[in-house]
Amino acid sequence: MLGACVTLERVTAPLLLGNHAVNPPVVLAPMAGITNVAFRRLCREQGGGVYVCEMITTRALVERIPKTLKMIAFAEDEGFRSLQLYGVDPDVTAAAVRMVGEDNLADHIDLNFGCPVPKVTRRGGGSALPWRRKLFARIVSQAVAAAKPYGIPLTIKMRKGIDEDHLTYVEAGLAAQEAGVAAVALHARTAEQRYSGKADWDAIATLKQALDVPVLGNGDIWEGSDALRMVEHTGVDGVVVGRGCLGRPWLFADLEAAFTQGASYQPVLPTLGEVAKIMSRHAQLLVEALEDEKHGCADYRKHVAWYLKGFPVGSELRRSLAMISSLTELDDLLAKLDPSIPFPADALGQPRGRVNAPGKVTLPHGWLDSRDDDTVPEGAETDESGG
Ligand SMILES: Cc1cc2nc3c(=O)[nH]c(=O)nc-3n(C[C@H](O)[C@H](O)[C@H](O)COP(=O)(O)O)c2cc1C
Repeated sequence: MLGACVTLERVTAPLLLGNHAVNPPVVLAPMAGITNVAFRRLCREQGGGVYVCEMITTRALVERIPKTLKMIAFAEDEGFRSLQLYGVDPDVTAAAVRMVGEDNLADHIDLNFGCPVPKVTRRGGGSALPWRRKLFARIVSQAVAAAKPYGIPLTIKMRKGIDEDHLTYVEAGLAAQEAGVAAVALHARTAEQRYSGKADWDAIATLKQALDVPVLGNGDIWEGSDALRMVEHTGVDGVVVGRGCLGRPWLFADLEAAFTQGASYQPVLPTLGEVAKIMSRHAQLLVEALEDEKHGCADYRKHVAWYLKGFPVGSELRRSLAMISSLTELDDLLAKLDPSIPFPADALGQPRGRVNAPGKVTLPHGWLDSRDDDTVPEGAETDESGG
């Protein structure tokens, strides 16, 4: 056993999202450009949980933009189809939710209030929106009402606030609870922090204490042991895991082991040979999902560095792997790796993916002066994302 030091005992009960029991109480965080049907399948093969689709913009959905409709792809065996919607207009959001119900597109809807991208916050969308509390409450309550006839549990995912002087998470959590959400997830950073620094697990504990509905904690879970620590520290009902599974879909096996076996669990640490098999499968699934070898391979390339992080693999081979254009080429290159190399202990517990620096949040003029203005922001819906 390498690295992970697990000393905790508490393991939560199954998480309930509406009538659906999630066991272990683990959610794959929606990640634009990552959590497509191929990646979700790869992760689902490792362990239980809820696996959220890439974010879908409500306006594009109701306008039935073909590219957007294509993104809502679920595998036949995907038992609990989970979709994240992003919207800034209560009526459009409700229409999108109704469409999901009518067309039977998903079994769970999450609303994104965490996007910190300047293009979005500049117009009052994403993580800027909960500040406008009346508009936020209208969006959530109309969405919950639209989901109800279809029995679709609706959740929200948000950040702590715009910055430390403009925190919204407790108030927004209470408003969402009042509106009837099934659960509330908190990425415990402000929009200003983006992905820098450490997630504030104390804030997750504060939210958990304030709400009666299930609370999901998000931020900086790199190993199953971190999930147990978060539960212990905050009392949350479940965890949401994003960057930790980039190039590590087996994290879901690790999380399942942690939640089922508790403190004494054996961390899942694949050898380089096992990693190579998963890399090959990931590429195959992407090619199947995109129905095109060239596009599948191009989309796959960004995952290579994450998979190999910490393994002693030469720079030339890494470079070639990150430039593949066919599955045969990938498998030929993977065959050059030494399958017996053990998982690198020093890659455990390390941040991966985005870790960018904090940045002042760009907001519409006067945004912070009027919390009760519920005018719908214009032009805040873009295809860009991040939470
Ligand atoms: C590449 C990438 C794309 C993301 N896209 C979304 C998104 O579409 N919706 C969302 O709510 N959060 C998005 N996020 C944020 C994650 O869901 C999660 O909240 C964040 O990464 C913090 O969790 P972590 O520390 O486990 O990574 C994204 C994050 C990354 C790294």
